[in-house]
Amino acid sequence: MNTRTDAAHPPTALITGASSGIGAALAQAYAVQGWRLVLVGRRADALGATAKACAQAQGLQTVDPMRIRLIPLDLLQTEAWREQAGALVQAWGCPQVVIANAGISHGVDLARAEDLAVAREVMDSNWLAALATLAPFITPMRARGNGTLVGVASVAGVRGLPGHAAYCASKAALIHALESLRVELRDSGVRVVTISPGYVATPLTADNPFPMPFLLQPDAFARRALRAIDAGRAYATIPWPMAVVSKLLHVLPRAWYDPLMAGQRRKPRKPKS
Ligand SMILES: NC(=O)c1ccc[n+]([C@@H]2O[C@H](COP(=O)([O-])OP(=O)(O)OC[C@H]3O[C@@H](n4cnc5c(N)ncnc54)[C@H](OP(=O)(O)O)[C@@H]3O)[C@@H](O)[C@H]2O)c1
Repeated sequence: MNTRTDAAHPPTALITGASSGIGAALAQAYAVQGWRLVLVGRRADALGATAKACAQAQGLQTVDPMRIRLIPLDLLQTEAWREQAGALVQAWGCPQVVIANAGISHGVDLARAEDLAVAREVMDSNWLAALATLAPFITPMRARGNGTLVGVASVAGVRGLPGHAAYCASKAALIHALESLRVELRDSGVRVVTISPGYVATPLTADNPFPMPFLLQPDAFARRALRAIDAGRAYATIPWPMAVVSKLLHVLPRAWYDPLMAGQRRKPRKPKS
C-alpha cells in the first residue's frame, strides 16, 4: 500500500494512544501524507491537541471532522470499543491501517501483593486491549481482501528485565499473539505488522533511571514506523541498531544474561494515586 495518496479518496489510519508520544507522532506523520485519521485515547483534551497538530500538518486552520475523527475511550472497556469500532466502519468504512499502539509501563516488585494489581493492569492494557483493538477489523479487512493490522510491541518483550516482569511479559505475549494472527491471515491479503520500538523519548520513558541507547525522538521514530507499515514488514525493530541488541539479548546464554542484568537499575514502580 502506498502512503502517498489521492487527495479525493484518502485512506484511513486508526491509531490508539494518539493523545501522546509515539501515537501522536504517528498521527502527524499520516496527516502529512494526506490520510484521514481516527484517533483513540482516554484524554479528550490531549486527543484534541493531536488533532489540531494534524490539521495544521495538512495546512488547515481547524479540525475537519470528516478528516479527523476522535474516539475518547478507555480501551479496557472492550464492549464499548467494539461498539465504537462498528459505528466507525458503518460511517467511514473499514480503515486501511489500524495501529494498536496504546500502552502503559510500570515496574513491579513481585514480592509485594499490591503490585499484582499493577501487573494485571499492564497485561490487560498492553496485551488484551491491543488484541481487542484489532479484533473488530479482522473480518471486514478479510472480506475486502486488504488492510494492515499493526501492533506496537517492544524490545523489552525479548527477555525478562529485572523489575519489569509485567511489561516484558505483556509485550512478549503481544509479539506471540501478533505472530499467530499473521499466520492465520496469510494469503488473505491482510498484513500483520509488529513494530518493536527500542527507546523513544516520550512520557513513558521520562522517568527511566537507566541509560537509553539509540534514543529516538517520536517524529523520527514515526517516519521509520510508517515505512515499515507501508512495506508490510512482518516484524520491524526501530531503530535498527536495537535489532542487533535485541538479537544478541535473545541468544545470550542464561549463564551470561543473569549476572549482566542483575545489577541493572530498575523501572520505577507505579506511584500511589
Ligand atoms: N517510548 C518508548 O521508548 C517505547 C519503547 C517500546 C515500546 N513502546 C510502546 O509504544 C506505545 C506508545 O508508548 P509511548 O512511549 O508513546 O507512551 P505514552 O506517551 O505514555 O503514550 C501512551 C498512550 O497510550 C494511551 N493509553 C494507555 N492506556 C490506555 C487505555 N486503557 N485506553 C486508551 N488509551 C490508552 C495513552 O492515552 P491516554 O492517557 O489519553 O489514555 C497515551 O496516548 C506503548 O505501547 C509502549 O509500550 C514505547
